[in-house]
Amino acid sequence: MAADFILIVDDNSANLAVLSKSLKDFGCRVRVAMDGETALTQAASDRPTLILLDVMMPGIGGFETCRRFKSNPDLMEIPIIFMTALADVENKAKGLSLGAVDYITKPFQREEVIARVKVHLKMSELLQTLRQQNKQMAIEVERRERAEAQLKAINSQLESRIKVGDSALTQANEHLQQAQDQVVQREKLSALGELVAGVAHEINNPIGCITSNMSFVSNYTQQLLEHIAVQQAVIETSDKNNKPAEKQLVEDHAEEIELDYIVEDFSKLIESMATSGDRIKTISQSLRTFARTDKTHKQDYDLHKGIDGTLLILRHRLKADGDRSEIVVDKHYGQLPKINCYPGQINQVFMNVLANAIDALEERARNDQTPTISIETGLVGELIEIKITDTAGGMSEAVRKRIFESQFTTKTAGKGTGLGLSIAQKIVTENHGGQMECASTMGKGTTFRITLPSAT
Ligand SMILES: Nc1ncnc2c1ncn2[C@@H]1O[C@H](COP(=O)(O)OP(=O)(O)OP(=O)(O)O)[C@@H](O)[C@H]1O
Ligand SMILES: [Mg+2]
Repeated sequence: MAADFILIVDDNSANLAVLSKSLKDFGCRVRVAMDGETALTQAASDRPTLILLDVMMPGIGGFETCRRFKSNPDLMEIPIIFMTALADVENKAKGLSLGAVDYITKPFQREEVIARVKVHLKMSELLQTLRQQNKQMAIEVERRERAEAQLKAINSQLESRIKVGDSALTQANEHLQQAQDQVVQREKLSALGELVAGVAHEINNPIGCITSNMSFVSNYTQQLLEHIAVQQAVIETSDKNNKPAEKQLVEDHAEEIELDYIVEDFSKLIESMATSGDRIKTISQSLRTFARTDKTHKQDYDLHKGIDGTLLILRHRLKADGDRSEIVVDKHYGQLPKINCYPGQINQVFMNVLANAIDALEERARNDQTPTISIETGLVGELIEIKITDTAGGMSEAVRKRIFESQFTTKTAGKGTGLGLSIAQKIVTENHGGQMECASTMGKGTTFRITLPSAT
């Protein structure tokens, strides 16, 4: 308590002397002032811990002095105890309402003054500690708020970094998936190509044997028939030499085997066999053209050959099947220049689009209509245009929007991989600088339009 410093304000010097002594004895440092204004000036230069303030003073008086202390931010927190001779309640209440912490009634009881001063000094000290703690708490709160804000910022940075990492990962994954898809398709296609080329090659030798021998077969047959005619003439003649038994034998046999009919039909048969042989030869040739899968070089290629080759391979799927009648292929080929392209890849595009059309026609087979695939080709300005249209009832807009997505399929697992169109579109756009679009009308059908630059 040694550092406690009390300012006593009273116009009565006797009072000042008594109080000063008591408080000094108690161990306080004491200053005195005889009026309110002096007290304010003194307090401002040497801040007291507590003020004892007389109510009745000349000049600004106790209440006004108190009001001025309370309105000065530097001094307002100094506790003030009023000293009053007035015992009336009104003045005590007024003092307290002005911000005083207590009052002491004159004449003073030394013990009472010391006791009250002690209480208020203690309270003031506690208040001070409390304020200090409050201040520190406020600082702590602010520090924590700042730390929290920093944490939040770090968090959101982390989140966005994770997002960036995440999307990079997703992208890498997509690229990998696409690469994988292409490998799968390429494998499929090259396996198909090899198979087709192999079959075509195997067919080629025996069919070559058949067609090249056909002319001999035809000649020999002709000669044999002529020979039979000669024999017949001989028999006719021998009739005159009266050999009825032998003659009868030959005639009976000729009748039995319907020789006349055989003679008439034989050459027709030979002719149609020759035609068929030629047809197989053509098929074999176009299969070989189709299977030409040069992956490293572009080459000049007749797109119509590619379409025809593809149709040939899909022929077995066009035939009538169960409820579905045969799929009619309606070709309207225009004049097209040869195009410099990767033939194997271009054939793959035709294969994927045509296979889809057949799938759709099979799935939505209706008896009341002839399932049809129309193929139209032509030159539009500098562009080669190929339109493949089916009558399979089309697809919804929601499906149409997604068909070129890798792995999008509406087909059951195992039937569709959802790769066909995404690969086809990549081949057309990325490898050949063309475009591939799809238009579809629900209840009617679908058209795929492929355009390729004619000069490359
Ligand atoms: N001509 C068409 N008519 C109706 N829907 C079609 C047609 N062509 C494609 N679609 C729709 O587009 C989807 C995607 O076709 P895509 O060729 O990419 O994959 P897929 O045929 O399902 O499987 P796959 O990888 O075996 O080709 C199909 O599942 C189908 O729903
Ligand atoms: Mg498909």
